[in-house]
Formats: sequence, C-alpha cells, structure tokens
Amino acid sequence: MICESKNKSYLKSQNLKIFGQGKLNGRVEISGAKNSALVLLAASLLTNERIILENVPRLTDIEKMGNILKNLGVNLVHKHNNLEIDSKNISMKELPYELVNGLRASFFCIGALLSKFGEAKVPLPGGCNIGLRPIDEHIKGLKALGSEILIEDGIVKAKIKGKKKQLCGTHIKLNCPSVGATETLIMAASLAEGRTTIENAAREPEIQDLCQMLNKMGAKIYDSGKETIIIDGVNKLGGCKHKVIPDRIEAGTFLIAAAATSSSITISPVIPHHLEAVTNKLKESGSKITVQGNSISIQSKKLKGVDIETAPFPGFPTDLQAPFTTLMTIAHGESKITETIFENRMNHIDLLKKMGASIKLDKNVAHIKGVKTMKGMNLIGSDLRSSAALIIAAIIAKGNSKIYGLEHLDRGYENFESKLKILGVKITREFIKKTFTEKEYKIASEPDDIPKARVA
Ligand code: UD1
Repeated sequence: MICESKNKSYLKSQNLKIFGQGKLNGRVEISGAKNSALVLLAASLLTNERIILENVPRLTDIEKMGNILKNLGVNLVHKHNNLEIDSKNISMKELPYELVNGLRASFFCIGALLSKFGEAKVPLPGGCNIGLRPIDEHIKGLKALGSEILIEDGIVKAKIKGKKKQLCGTHIKLNCPSVGATETLIMAASLAEGRTTIENAAREPEIQDLCQMLNKMGAKIYDSGKETIIIDGVNKLGGCKHKVIPDRIEAGTFLIAAAATSSSITISPVIPHHLEAVTNKLKESGSKITVQGNSISIQSKKLKGVDIETAPFPGFPTDLQAPFTTLMTIAHGESKITETIFENRMNHIDLLKKMGASIKLDKNVAHIKGVKTMKGMNLIGSDLRSSAALIIAAIIAKGNSKIYGLEHLDRGYENFESKLKILGVKITREFIKKTFTEKEYKIASEPDDIPKARVA
C-alpha cells in the first residue's frame, strides 16, 4: 500500500521508461547526503548567525525542509548546490502540519527549536509505508533534558519546565540506537546547561557530520561516531561554512546497479569506509572493488548469492536492502535477506516476483533463488529505496519497463536518470498529458492499474 500522497497526480503522470539488458560504464559523481543535509538544515536553527551549507543535493525532501524553515522566518538563499541560511529572524516556533506532512526529518527540528527558544510545537510525523516509525526515544530524551511534553491533537508541544531558560544536561540511555533521536538530542543538548551523555547512540556518518558542523559553530561535542556521545552545553552557537558529506546510499545504489549488470564503473567523491559493509558484501558476491582516495571502482562479472542482515551503522544499511535484494534475484545460488530495522520494508518483493524473481517471503526475511533473467514490466515504486530497486531490476530485465511513483525517487536521488544516462543506460522520463479520473487513479502496485494513457 502506498502512503497517502498530496501529489497523487504525480504518481502516475510521470514515469521512467527503461530499456532492459542495459550496461553501465564510466564514472559517476555522487551528490551530497540527503539525510545529512536535512539534519544540518534543522541544526541551522540553533544560531542567529549565517550558515553556509555546500554540496546540498537538489531534492524534493530538501525543498520541503527549506519551505518549513522559511515558514518559521528563516531567510534561505539557494545557489546551485549551496545554501545560505539566516535564522536570526525566526518569528514562529511552530511547524505547520501541511508542510511537515510526509517529511519525517522535519520532526528533528523539535530539539533545535526547544533548546534555542524554550518551546516548540511540531506535528507528529505519523506512520509511513516502511513502518510505524515511533518517536518515543526523542520524547523520552527531551523530557530527561528538562522539558515537559504534551501530545495534543497530533501536535507535540514541548517547553522547558518551570522558569528555567535552558534545558539541563543529563544522562540518556536510548533503548535503540535511533538515528533521528540521537540527532534531536544532540541538537537539544548543544545549548543545554551542563554535560549530557547519550548512551547507545546511533553511529551513522550523518550523525558525525552533524557533530562536526555543530562543533564548527562552537558546540562541544565529543566522541560522535562512538556508542556514547558527550555534549557539553554552551550558551550560544555561531555561524559556519560546512560541506555536506557524500551520500553513501546513493553511492551504494550505483555500485549495486553496476554489479547487477556485470558492469565496470567508478564512483566519486565518496568516503570509502562509510560504504564498507556494502563493498564487503559486493566482494563476497563476486565483484572486484578498488578503492583509491575518494573513489571506488567496481568490476563485476559472475555473481553469487550472499546473505545480508540490515543493522545500524557500521552494519549493512537498511536503505540499501531493497537494491541489494534486486541484485540477489539474478545471482547464482541462494541468498537470504533479513530486514531488522523497519517492520514493513519488503514492499519491493512482490513486484520483483512479478518480474520473474524467485523469492519466498517469511515476514522480514526474503529467501531468494537466483534466476537467469527477469522480464520488463510497468510498476509503481512504493517508497524511495524500493523505487531504486525497481529501476535496477528494469535495467537488468529483458524487455522494456516503465517505473511509476517517481515522487518517492525524487525525494532522495539527485538527477538519477541523468546519471544513469551518462553511464549508458537507456532511460527517459515520460510525462503523461492525460488527467486521470478518480477511478483510474486507484492506488495500487498492479501494472494493470496503470491506465494506457498517451505519452507526451
Ligand atoms: C533515519 C534515516 C533513514 C534510515 C534510518 C535507519 C533520515 C532522515 N532518515 O531514519 O533513511 O533508514 O535512519 O538508518 O535520516 N525507533 C523507535 N523509537 C524512536 C525512534 C526510532 O522505536 O523514537 C525505531 C524505528 O521504528 C526503527 C528504528 O528505531 O525501527 C530505526 O529508526 P531511526 O534510526 O530513528 O530512523 P530515522 O531516524 O527515522
């Protein structure tokens, strides 16, 4: 089931037409990390001085976050992939539902707003098509830092307890190493009084990127990237210039696409150790990986099935589980894919089966028997990473495919089809002129549900 989308018409008004049995060849440039850029935008709320963010990917998620900030009174200037952010005139501490809807990362603003202004009102991010995605760890941590929180009519209302002006440093132990909760609490603790320690913190590179930027702004954060992060609160944070780290998930997607098509490509810039869990699995399944400075080359020929189990960093990223599943559908032998982070992140399995993959799904474990080839089809991607998985499947497949649901893809991959084109894939974005009736528009992942409309 696809999440309710405001831009329903987008779902079927655009598609990527892909000619199958493609090969990739050459070099591709990796964009800045979406998940870093989103949280760095939230962190810019912590200062009255100017932040310059470089290497920001142009994505709909970033645009949405930008609109949320603008709505708060932030002055935002976009120049190519750079953003100048000036938060000195914030007039509101409340995020409107219409803008927050569909962007989970917008919830991460709560820590920055609460810490700087003493209060914040942020709508609940709600569920999503990959799982429930609760926020209990964010709330528990913010309460421990000295705030009172009320959830009323779907709005999380937070304010510093009593007459205090600052949150108060404390020891927080997370039940699970949530990326978002770790980020929320780091931002909140940066302007708190005294020391905060976050135990069982997430160690993802995007968290390290956040801490690096905050430290440039004058924060005192130690041991980011370790299980326990220490934050000594300061009274004020200043401006800085910061370059967003390369997107390890985009990078991994291209490496997987190359492996799946027995291709040779080079990706850069990347931070190779951010991708180690992925490159190790690619090596195990038969690809040759060469790391040189900030680039990774892959040469791929014969693939063999390997097992993966998603895990928090430095484990195999859940965001690459769907693309890797596609890879395993055509690998020689058997493989087992276990999703451990999100409860509903196997939406691509049924669609891959329609394309000819042999997969048995047992809850969150996919048992795959490699097939020789798959067949091209018209399909609708139902979330960001499963859309990427379907595109890789379409490149492998015999025959042509049309992949719909591009509003998911455009959230997280900058110029995806242009980059694939540069690498030699035959892919075009089609815009359908027809207006659909409500009935035609029924949301489903069945290819038959896609109306045979004239293509522009
Ligand atoms: C971030 C990434 C997302 C990635 C995920 C895991 C962003 C914008 N998104 O999402 O791409 O897939 O990390 O690497 O950075 N949980 C709780 N309680 C909480 C918070 C989380 O139980 O308060 C659970 C979730 O349900 C999930 C697990 O923890 O099962 C991991 O979620 P989390 O790390 O918080 O993911 P996000 O920060 O939402």
